[in-house]
Amino acid sequence: MNFESLKPPVIAILSELNAERDAKLKNLCQFLFDNISYYNWVGFYFADHDNKTLHLGSYVGAETDHTIIPFGKGICGQVAESNQNFVVPDVSAQDNYIACSFTVKSEIVVPLFVNGKNIGQIDIDSHVINPFTDADERFLEFVNQEVAKLF
Ligand code: SME
Repeated sequence: MNFESLKPPVIAILSELNAERDAKLKNLCQFLFDNISYYNWVGFYFADHDNKTLHLGSYVGAETDHTIIPFGKGICGQVAESNQNFVVPDVSAQDNYIACSFTVKSEIVVPLFVNGKNIGQIDIDSHVINPFTDADERFLEFVNQEVAKLF
């Protein structure tokens, strides 16, 4: 996967003048979904630090029941507390995992920091086992650094 070639369009999508933030994020999700074959669900969750819950924001892919996730629950909830990337090569090997669909085999979650605070995360599900490499992590960190500029 040539992630370098995806960076300029990511910047362009997030710089669109006449779009609200949620629309830009939705366009970003769609772009990643369309251009990376093993990104089969792409979405953002945002943290409510008072209530210790994550709330689903813009996403592309199958509808999910998991629109609110308590901190600590599932892969997403763990990232809300750890502030670390979480790469899951095979979701069936995880005890603390919230299943969305039996088609999902792997997942990557990368926290979104604004001024050093973990305000949410990008969450990607894949139908492929073990597809994510360091390059995905570095690319998604870049994506989130660009998204952080919208806040
Ligand atoms: N699998 C996630 C739940 C969110 S869905 O992937 C959209 C988790 O375990 O946190």
